[in-house]
Amino acid sequence: MSSSTPSRRSLFEALSSASLGIAATALIAREVKAAPPEETHGEQLESFKFDIENQKGWVGEAGSAKEATVAEFPVSQSIAGVSMRLEPGAIRELHWHALAAEWAYVLEGRCRTTVISPNGQAEVSEFEPGDTWYFPRGHGHAIQGLGPGVCHFLLGFDNGHFSEFGTFSVTDWIAHTSPHILTRNLLLPESAFTQFPKKEVYIGPGKLPAHALENVRNADLQPSQAQHKFRLDQLTPHVFEGGQERIVSSREFPIQTTLTAVRMDLKPGALREMHWHPHADEWQYYVKGGARVTIFGSHGRVRTEEFKAGQVAFIKQGYGHYIEQTGDEPTELLILFNSGIYEEISLSAWLGANPASLLSDNFGISADLVDRMPRKSAGISAKRG
Ligand SMILES: [Fe+2]
Ligand SMILES: [Fe+2]
Repeated sequence: MSSSTPSRRSLFEALSSASLGIAATALIAREVKAAPPEETHGEQLESFKFDIENQKGWVGEAGSAKEATVAEFPVSQSIAGVSMRLEPGAIRELHWHALAAEWAYVLEGRCRTTVISPNGQAEVSEFEPGDTWYFPRGHGHAIQGLGPGVCHFLLGFDNGHFSEFGTFSVTDWIAHTSPHILTRNLLLPESAFTQFPKKEVYIGPGKLPAHALENVRNADLQPSQAQHKFRLDQLTPHVFEGGQERIVSSREFPIQTTLTAVRMDLKPGALREMHWHPHADEWQYYVKGGARVTIFGSHGRVRTEEFKAGQVAFIKQGYGHYIEQTGDEPTELLILFNSGIYEEISLSAWLGANPASLLSDNFGISADLVDRMPRKSAGISAKRG
């Protein structure tokens, strides 16, 4: 804010000391113009729900992909998601993302990835349900379905604009490079390049690798982590009365510097308590079961949406929110935050961090009522009654 912009206090003083003259009217006009869009009174909160699994998306013989980028889900500026399926042997071809880091969680089946880091380090890893990967922005990678059956994984990106102009595929580059350069660079005769794809492959068929990496006999000794891999479901959860949470930030998975990933499990009737995240947006994907999410966007603006499996939610940084589990079956969701450091403040912890007399005055209630309110976070509370 520039020094010529009036503060709220000076606006208040101008309004209260002067009658509504020209000077005050001009002040109001300048104040309204200076206010960020979030603070415009009376404006409704935009939709924070998207039905990703209900889209057609990209479909090919070897797999499919359904996207939730800003093109499909405008509120989700900082995080994008893709639900991808690969047939056994199918290859999500060699590519990199110029605008975003990529995270993934395997929901079903098995796959193998290859990735190269800028220091030349190569890594080949295999993934099962509950395992995650993180490829920093620009690291070249590929994914192959290992069978048996389809491998289904959820991809998350730390930029809602990652897709358009942001994904660079090896076949696309080669198809658009002149043969005399390719001959010099790739050491093949020009005639060889007539066999290469004429455009981007994206997802194509492939043969299953001859050898699967064999696990060691003691599953407890299976490494929980490689440089780009983290076995999220193996992490010891935080357990609450109404459910549990596994939180993987850069503390647990050092390379994951721009995202924090959470698997949350809610028992029937549970309440994920009222809270906010001071420095990150929150993106949710519902794997199983249902929930009702309510957000609070200041100035009296609230919005509630119902979610079921295959749907995505987006909650802006700093917005208050809570999750009510719905339905008779437990609810499972995956959550991403666009920061490698996890932070939250809950309403109950905040109330515990204030003197009783101040709360009594703030709410205009008796000391007895203040005494009955929580002093610390409940996290996920159990069904009442
Ligand atoms: Fe990718
Ligand atoms: Fe949250």
